[in-house]
Amino acid sequence: MFLWGTATAAYQIEGAADEGGRGPSVWDTFSREPGRTRSGHTGDVACDHYHRWREDVALMAGLGVNAYRFSLSWPRIQPSGSGPVNAEGLDFYDRLVDALLAEGITPVPTLFHWDLPQALEDGGGWLARDTAHRFAEYAALAAGRLADRVRMWITLNEPFVHMAYGYAMGIHAPGRALMLDALPVAHHQLLGHGLAAGALRAAGAEQVLITNNCTPVWPASDSEADLAAAGAYDVLHNRLFNDPVLLGKYPDLSAYGMTNLDFVHDGDLDVIATPLDGIGINYYNPTRIAAPSSEGLPWEDAGISGYPTTAFGWPVVPDGLRELLVRLKDRYGDRLPPVYVTENGCSQEDVPGPDGVVDDRGRIAFLEQHIEAMRRAGREGVDVRGYFVWSLLDNFEWAEGYHQRFGLVHVDFPTQRRTPKASYAWLRDFLSSEH
Ligand code: FCB
Repeated sequence: MFLWGTATAAYQIEGAADEGGRGPSVWDTFSREPGRTRSGHTGDVACDHYHRWREDVALMAGLGVNAYRFSLSWPRIQPSGSGPVNAEGLDFYDRLVDALLAEGITPVPTLFHWDLPQALEDGGGWLARDTAHRFAEYAALAAGRLADRVRMWITLNEPFVHMAYGYAMGIHAPGRALMLDALPVAHHQLLGHGLAAGALRAAGAEQVLITNNCTPVWPASDSEADLAAAGAYDVLHNRLFNDPVLLGKYPDLSAYGMTNLDFVHDGDLDVIATPLDGIGINYYNPTRIAAPSSEGLPWEDAGISGYPTTAFGWPVVPDGLRELLVRLKDRYGDRLPPVYVTENGCSQEDVPGPDGVVDDRGRIAFLEQHIEAMRRAGREGVDVRGYFVWSLLDNFEWAEGYHQRFGLVHVDFPTQRRTPKASYAWLRDFLSSEH
């Protein structure tokens, strides 16, 4: 069965930051620091999904999706990232899973979507190897409770973005700006993925995936310098996270001056390369790369022009999804497991009209064209088995706070009123013609 779903993440929708025994996460700390997020927004309340989850499940049932990708909040399940479990936290997800199953919706939880327990960050966060072991313990706790009903699990969401934004540039929590010294964060997340995959399977999980954010890299020209820069960027964004998982080795990082990865211990790559049942791919846009004009990184983002853009300013390039999937197939061949597009969507300035309707026809066109591009990849031989729209609801968009609206459902944050947009009705009709 092809999975058609929507995707969300715990910190972006749940709210109830100090309720139900939840411990603090890096995002609580970071978003409460002045100047970190736009307008100082935090996820303290977000979409109040922790209290309104029944209404949100009903919205999905009305939409007709057969899958839902959400994330489990580690600090809700294990408040300090190690030690005792918070039963109330697990109860919440237990009820959610049952409600989804009752509607015929396959639950697809992600264990880590960036909300690390603050106590672990205080011990070094993902710079510390120990965090990988803590992650596997948490995976065992979550699966111990849910794997009797949850068949498909995702370990990490976008370890590249978490490393780059969270630890290299300091745009996301935990707000560290270590540039290339952030590299151990890649390895420790991947090690955590491999260890957690084992823990999930031991607890009865049937399907284990990782979700990577991938981008087709376009060299700004055919010059040797631009081609080399594009190759270096491809290594950092795509291959650093796909090669170890699919091939059991790191790509050549010499463009970054790194030849000796001393944080990689004997046997780690075997753990990381544990066979997967699928790979989650999040696609938003391609990246155009030129040779650097100054010292520092071996590439420069040259920007993409000539395409429409989303409210975020991201270029809309539907065929980039086909290109990306076909390139993955070309690069990894038989090592590429079935692909699930675990996020795709766009932000728009969605304002309800006087009649309350949000006429987001740009989003409808975006989804229609990307689904079509995914299907072209299928015709070119890529085994694609799922597509999840980011996102069900307008939500807390990290450093952008509530300024970027990605939802199929509009949320009026002061009142928490949910209003399905025109794209919701379009997707509902599309899905009913699919089933
Ligand atoms: C992805 C994130 C997701 C959301 C979208 C817009 O990188 O995984 O949480 O913020 O971007």
